[in-house]
Amino acid sequence: MAPEGQWILMATGRSPTNIAVIKYWGKRDEALILPVNDSISVTLDPDHLSATTTVAVSPSFPSDRMWLNGKEISLSGGRFQSCLREIRKRACDFEDEKKEIRIKKEDWENLHVHIASYNNFPTAAGLASSAAGFACLVFTLGKLMNVKEDYGQLSSIARQGSGSACRSIYGGFVKWCMGKKDDGSDSMAVQLADEAHWNDLVIIIAVVSSKQKETSSTSGMQNSVETSPLLQYRAQTVVPSRVMKMEEAIKNRDFASFAKLTCADSNQFHATSNSVEYFYWQVAYTFDAGPNAVLISPNRKTATLLLKKLLYCFPPQDKDLSSYLVGDKSILSDAGL
Ligand code: ADP
Ligand code: DP6
Ligand code: CO
Repeated sequence: MAPEGQWILMATGRSPTNIAVIKYWGKRDEALILPVNDSISVTLDPDHLSATTTVAVSPSFPSDRMWLNGKEISLSGGRFQSCLREIRKRACDFEDEKKEIRIKKEDWENLHVHIASYNNFPTAAGLASSAAGFACLVFTLGKLMNVKEDYGQLSSIARQGSGSACRSIYGGFVKWCMGKKDDGSDSMAVQLADEAHWNDLVIIIAVVSSKQKETSSTSGMQNSVETSPLLQYRAQTVVPSRVMKMEEAIKNRDFASFAKLTCADSNQFHATSNSVEYFYWQVAYTFDAGPNAVLISPNRKTATLLLKKLLYCFPPQDKDLSSYLVGDKSILSDAGL
């Protein structure tokens, strides 16, 4: 082994986020992060929304530390501790190519890590940064510590960082099987089909706000579990058959079924949040039995911004818009009309 404190070993990894088409929303065990239903997602291409994480280990580090997007964050939370503990437990003997650094399996317990992660998309804004972040952390720590577990096991560890992270261990179409066991050992993700299976699909992500959301996914779903009469019905009665249909739709590249199930599930997941006192949306919308949207904004400022964006995307066919605007008409001139 090189002289004490004289070496540093590093590994870097990159993981994309994933977007659920059948949503995970609600836990049956908060500490182990066990869900109330299976979920299915599409992992994005790693060139796009992704986390890049570098983990370094050295005998000269006195403690574990982490920086997220350049700012130091605390590792004291149970989720980071679970991931670090589970990976350290599985670490194996390591020797570098030049045979200068040799780390025995049992030495990893006493070596501290420094972690730096960077997201190339808005963090904590509803684009699943926790999924990319924890999948990347677990994968990269595993690489550094010479962990030899298969992807299923890694996914089960990433799950303990953030539920949705277990699905980002794989590319393509992925299912998180909720599992039955109380210890969570069978709650992990499996790949349904790889990236190449349905490469005609194009995903467009409309970023309306990059601001950190006021309610984290963790507390939002906790709230739904406690207050929504719909949530248990959804988990037990609706999702199981929807998951089966979605697997079929993906297998057959059946876009009509895929689209119907995806939209229905998004609506139902949001419906479980309607009875609670928080608001992920900045405007309200409602559709009657037709394609035209009715948008309701909480104030003039939001209405003007919204109107400007709408007019840019959908230039008006009718010169006089005033009959379609209920409320303060002066926002039409504020929006440049
Ligand atoms: P999102 O919708 O973006 O997933 P969440 O509320 O689920 O929002 O999770 C946000 C949290 O995920 C952050 O506060 C942070 O703790 C964690 N996180 C985000 N990015 C990373 C990353 N790159 N590495 C580690 N943890 C991350
Ligand atoms: C709406 O995985 O972020 O994106 O497990 O508490 O970290 P925690 O929650 P998180 O929740 C994701 C919720 C969702 C749906 C989904 O990705 O399936
Ligand atoms: Co999240």
